[in-house]
Amino acid sequence: MMGPKRHFFPLLLLFSISAFFLLFLHSYFSTSNPNSNPNFINSLKNPKPKSPNFTFIIKVLAFNRLDSLSRCLRSLAAADYLSDPVHLHIHIDHFASTNNDSLQLDRNLGSSHRILEFVDDFEWRFGEKLVHYRTGNAGLQAQWLEAWWPSSDNEFAFVVEDDLEVSPLYYRFLRSLIVNFYYNASNYSPYIFGASLQRPRFVPGKHGNKIQLDNNARLFLYQLVGTWGQLLFPKPWKEFRLWYDIHKAKGIKPFLEGMVTTGWYKKMGERIWTPWFIKFIHSHGYFNIYTNFLHERALSVSHRDAGVNYGKTAGPDSHLLDESSLDFNFLEMQPLSNLKWYDFCFKEVLPGRVVTSNAELGSVLYGVQNQKSIILVSLFGVSEPVTRNLLCHFERLNIWNYIFMGPESDFLLDLSRRGHPVINADKFLNSVRAYKSMTFQDSNAELIKEILMKAYVIKKCLEYRYNSWMVDGNMLFTSSDLFLETIDPTVDFYVGKGLELMHVRSSSSAEKFWTGALMSKVAEMVDSLTRKASISRDGRNFVYVAANLLEQKGVRIKRVDETSLGLNIDTNNVSRSSLGGGKKMAFWSSEIVLDLIQKRLQELGMWFVDSDFSCIAVVCHKL
Ligand SMILES: *[C@@H]1O[C@H](CO)[C@@H](O)[C@H](O)[C@H]1NC(C)=O
Ligand SMILES: *[C@@H]1O[C@H](CO)[C@@H](O)[C@H](O)[C@H]1NC(C)=O
Ligand SMILES: *[C@@H]1O[C@H](CO)[C@@H](O)[C@H](O)[C@H]1NC(C)=O
Ligand SMILES: *[C@@H]1O[C@H](CO)[C@@H](O)[C@H](O)[C@H]1NC(C)=O
Repeated sequence: MMGPKRHFFPLLLLFSISAFFLLFLHSYFSTSNPNSNPNFINSLKNPKPKSPNFTFIIKVLAFNRLDSLSRCLRSLAAADYLSDPVHLHIHIDHFASTNNDSLQLDRNLGSSHRILEFVDDFEWRFGEKLVHYRTGNAGLQAQWLEAWWPSSDNEFAFVVEDDLEVSPLYYRFLRSLIVNFYYNASNYSPYIFGASLQRPRFVPGKHGNKIQLDNNARLFLYQLVGTWGQLLFPKPWKEFRLWYDIHKAKGIKPFLEGMVTTGWYKKMGERIWTPWFIKFIHSHGYFNIYTNFLHERALSVSHRDAGVNYGKTAGPDSHLLDESSLDFNFLEMQPLSNLKWYDFCFKEVLPGRVVTSNAELGSVLYGVQNQKSIILVSLFGVSEPVTRNLLCHFERLNIWNYIFMGPESDFLLDLSRRGHPVINADKFLNSVRAYKSMTFQDSNAELIKEILMKAYVIKKCLEYRYNSWMVDGNMLFTSSDLFLETIDPTVDFYVGKGLELMHVRSSSSAEKFWTGALMSKVAEMVDSLTRKASISRDGRNFVYVAANLLEQKGVRIKRVDETSLGLNIDTNNVSRSSLGGGKKMAFWSSEIVLDLIQKRLQELGMWFVDSDFSCIAVVCHKL
């Protein structure tokens, strides 16, 4: 077995990869003249790209289909392995022993033994061959899950079920992919769990509807696992196995409402494994690399032979891509930053939108706004589970024009990599000159940051002519109406009476006021606050400060009475009916403990996260 290699040499790698491409290009585009290119001459001497010393293991999952298995193994043996060592592990499941029919029993024994004989005789020239023959029927779930426990972070498993057939080109593709997306730091993401060679086909969040691909991208990222030729990366797989272990042991089911795979699980139970993996991927926000080779082509096809998944043989799902049908450079790997990311609804996800300065704010707001309106969500003093629950509400309500702002934290960055735009308040304010020159008590730091941050974001929204709703993570809305309902066009500012809630209408008067008098006043006010040894948070929030200043200046504001608009769950016993009577929101103070918030929101039917604080459902909307 090969171990990890500690060093790898980027320059050498770069050189030999480009040399390899040149060679490759030459063989498919014979118009190029090799003699004119010195690199090409060099590449002839060393056509194989140098790469990290990783271990590649093919895991073949077989059962009782000799014809399928032999087709599968023959295709694997016919592939080009570039003289790399590649190991073959064949896991053969046993037939179920429930059968009392001695004729059938003899037939099963005969069939199993013929398969064993076949794999024993099967020659594997590329590395070691290992056969694992089970003593009892394990089923597909155990076959997959027990097939691999990575022995290092440099070991990869390529899992194929026995009714697959792979292209002779498949390994060269996977090798380039591993080198580019695992070993090249600039294209590496710990949230990519592997690559599927099957043609992407369906959208699990949309009743398994057919996927609609655009023709541009040959590679893209999609959350769904593929089961027809899946390359697994070691770290996420190990993490999955541990997660599965915990959940299975505790009797937690991998239910994810809205997913077609959950329906399969309810029918098939523990015979299948994908619902477990899908639930894990959903809660961790991981992605898989897929190919889009057009014309229904793929490097791995399933013959969909009769068996556990198909009652009767359905035939190949795609056309196998081979040298004769190759009309593009299949080894060309793009930088990760060029690839698109898609969730279980096949909705594009935009990871990595983190605003760290005033200069970056405008373009992110532009991308976020919907009909020139933006929801600014403050996460100051808001816990992680409450924020995650809020996100599930936004998903249900089809609200996407939000941006989070909060102090720098791992959680904030995690939100951004899952596709939710965030403003890192610490970094942002450190880029603001006025803020850096302030001195204040540490005990006031968070409050001052929060007040200034909000003032700056609203200022930017006004500059861009966007209406903004400033809300707090400690509130939940029951419908998207609140953000859409018509606002009195003569009033620029709506403020919550006691709540951190504010609506600022885009107008030239509002902008003039906000960027002129207000910003300097906010700075002054904050400055005076900073002189006080310690200020109580209560009532001294941003909206309080802003409303006071607006009123002092004689600007017309409207007070929103939260007690008629919403339900305070701090003290009340609540039930679903408490939200009747035109109440559009539930809210609570930041002092109330999480357990109580959770309990009350559960009573209201507004707690949509599971024990991993992951949404209990995938909710897809029409685009
Ligand atoms: C790769 O690793 C194996 C096992 O550790 C070792 O025997 C082999 O020499 C290594 N190859 C290279 C090129 O470093
Ligand atoms: C085999 O069949 C007999 C008679 O039908 C039954 O009593 C017995 O339980 C069966 N055994 C198994 C293992 O199914
Ligand atoms: C790593 O990826 C980047 C971006 O795709 C690329 O520019 C660079 O050449 C790659 N490095 C190596 C050693 O291949
Ligand atoms: C409030 O909740 C407690 C505990 O759930 C319950 O015992 C009590 O009857 C409730 N009070 C009202 C007025 O509903």
